[in-house]
Amino acid sequence: MPPKKELRDRFGRSIKYVRLSVTDKCNMRCFYCLPKGFKGFETPKNWLTFDEIERVIRAFTQLGVSRVRLTGGEPLVRKNLPDLISRLTALEGLDDLSLSTNAALLTQHAEAIKQAGVSRINVSLDSLQAERFKQITGNGSLSAVLAGLQAAKEAGLAPIKINTVAMKGVNDDEFIDLIDYCADMGFTLRFIETMPVGDTGREASNNYLDLQTIISDLSTRFTLIPDLLPNGGGPARYYRIVEKDVNLGFITPISQHFCETCNRVRLSVDGVLYLCLGDEHKIELRPLLRDGITDSELADVLAEAINLKPERHEFKEKPDSVIRFMSMTGG
Ligand SMILES: C[S@@+](CC[C@H](N)C(=O)[O-])C[C@H]1O[C@@H](n2cnc3c(N)ncnc32)[C@H](O)[C@@H]1O
Ligand code: SF4
Repeated sequence: MPPKKELRDRFGRSIKYVRLSVTDKCNMRCFYCLPKGFKGFETPKNWLTFDEIERVIRAFTQLGVSRVRLTGGEPLVRKNLPDLISRLTALEGLDDLSLSTNAALLTQHAEAIKQAGVSRINVSLDSLQAERFKQITGNGSLSAVLAGLQAAKEAGLAPIKINTVAMKGVNDDEFIDLIDYCADMGFTLRFIETMPVGDTGREASNNYLDLQTIISDLSTRFTLIPDLLPNGGGPARYYRIVEKDVNLGFITPISQHFCETCNRVRLSVDGVLYLCLGDEHKIELRPLLRDGITDSELADVLAEAINLKPERHEFKEKPDSVIRFMSMTGG
């Protein structure tokens, strides 16, 4: 059945995609995302329950949303995640359920999330050097992550996209190693520019690397053919490196933003709907859900909320505007 209404914002953008944070907790502490020793996590009574999440996502699908990405924090630390995945994949109109993870728990969970209905995953991986990986992630285990990636591949999750935050003086000597690793494993590699989200993100912006310079540099060494990937439709610009037989994507929120084609909103674990990663415009859905809002009122609230979506983020002009950490809304 086609959706009764669709979500279109004031700038004519049609909203088809929800990033759903299922927890703000994480088993890592990437320095650009979550501060070391951070304790201010949301209390469990404020987490949306699976029933509440299903209800909100159903309302979104009835308004034309067809894609959901589970994120966090680290989504695999939320208990019984495969149950939620099965419930969401059963929703009419939801065509694509994906997951972003740091892969540390994937050896345990890859098979179950695949069975429950996740087809494809994005995995954060900023270094292939164990010691450096520990430093970036606040004690993360590279071998656990690589084993998790192997398990994901064996479970048939595909495509697997590796997300690497590109940072000057941190991992910019490893880009070719990462390209080779992804070529070997059959993964797509995507470089991301650091974003000034939360104090951690602002601090990491000291290591900001303009990815346009990396594209130019790689073009002098390899044949880069602009490419369109199935299930692209997101912010990355893709190339195929002919000599390496690998797809490479660039996510450039700072050097070349992609807000005019933004089709997404974000729902945090405590039920706050954020209209843009780059500002604090939001609507609190949890109190409405717990106060007995009807389905038709909920649809109206979502449609109304979309009007708050700003035309574009202002990371460059107002780098101090986002207070929350990336782990709250899931990147
Ligand atoms: C917040 S994480 C959540 C999902 C999962 N824990 C993971 O790491 O993939 C989602 C993405 O946001 C990225 N990220 C976090 N903080 C960032 C920042 N300040 N700038 C750019 N990307 C950031 C991470 O590298 C990751 O690819
Ligand atoms: S980027 Fe992902 S893995 Fe790293 S601290 Fe943030 S939520 Fe955790």
